[in-house]
Amino acid sequence: MRREPGFLVITGNVLLVLTALALSWTAVFYATEAIYVRLGWEPHALVVFLVNAALGFIVFGIGVMFVGRFLRPKQHRFFMELLEALRRISRGDFQVNLQTEFGRLNEKQRQRHPYAQLVESINDMAANLQAMEELRQEFISNVSHEIGSPLTSISGFARALKNDRLDREVRHRYLSIIETECIRLSKLSDNLLRLANLDSDRQPFRPSPYRLDKQLMSLILACEPQWEEKEINMSLEAEEVEVTADEGLMSQVWVNLIHNAVKFTPQGGSVSVVLTADDRHAVVRIADTGPGIPEQDQPRIFERFYKADKSRNRSAGGSGLGLSIALKIVEMHRGTISVSSKPEEGAEFTVSLPLTAEEGMAN
Ligand SMILES: Nc1ncnc2c1ncn2[C@@H]1O[C@H](COP(=O)(O)OP(=O)(O)OP(=O)(O)O)[C@@H](O)[C@H]1O
Ligand SMILES: [Mg+2]
Repeated sequence: MRREPGFLVITGNVLLVLTALALSWTAVFYATEAIYVRLGWEPHALVVFLVNAALGFIVFGIGVMFVGRFLRPKQHRFFMELLEALRRISRGDFQVNLQTEFGRLNEKQRQRHPYAQLVESINDMAANLQAMEELRQEFISNVSHEIGSPLTSISGFARALKNDRLDREVRHRYLSIIETECIRLSKLSDNLLRLANLDSDRQPFRPSPYRLDKQLMSLILACEPQWEEKEINMSLEAEEVEVTADEGLMSQVWVNLIHNAVKFTPQGGSVSVVLTADDRHAVVRIADTGPGIPEQDQPRIFERFYKADKSRNRSAGGSGLGLSIALKIVEMHRGTISVSSKPEEGAEFTVSLPLTAEEGMAN
């Protein structure tokens, strides 16, 4: 916002103009005096006064034009630099860092100077756009990679299937691999769509009161085929807890966490789900007896596409989006999600959810 000039600035400017006028009139007075002496002419006092006044103004005007000529290019250059920076940003070149004379000002002076603030805002905008552009490129390269690997595998096995001499068993194995890779691709596309919806305003957020213990119970039962197949000892310990949250979105969180626990736990292991509550939060702990997560990976597993153990993940199947979706949904509810794990001792994910959520808190 433009600041009004202070009293001192106005007084200073008025004094400057008056001094310049006085100097012009003085100069004209002595100059005309010398001319009259030279000419041996003694004009009437009124004529002297009028001539001096008029010439004084003319000299003053010429002086102002002269000084303005020196100042204008500087201002002009400044605005041209700004325009060029904005043009580069609009063309998608965000490597903009305007270095102007305002760099010499200290922090306080810069905050008071409207042009300095403008320059700083443009530099900040360019830096933010650059960071977003890098994220976008990383996202695209991750998506391409996640799509590329299953496609290579599908096309390889499809080519192999053209061989008529393959026996029935091998043919069946190849077809199963193709099917698994197709499921992986379709899950990836579902997750990408879900993330895009969560990132945009399209995702409806409708909290309503429901029983969290019942939700966990029914989701665990729905996953029974997966944990039964691996003979996993699944347990649920839950108090009666009512929360106000978006039931559909929260079920995505529990499914992602339970699927991970089952996926990473070896045959015959165990997974436990515990629900407790205090007067403000519901706390859900999902623990498994899998390989755990190395300490250096723990802060990063909630990032999009991040996988702690790439080789193990390849066989387990997954694109590294499940936890980032869970984090996003929990944050929409103003809750927290964290992990604690020691390698080879399993992992425990803890979600803390406020018991009440207000409509619209998602934004
Ligand atoms: N219970 C767990 N035990 C061991 N590692 C885990 C566990 N949960 C998550 N991880 C690690 O965190 C990474 C990220 O998990 P996330 O759920 O985001 O992705 P994913 O399961 O690999 O793929 P997706 O969920 O998209 O199918 C996993 O790849 C894995 O390395
Ligand atoms: Mg997962």
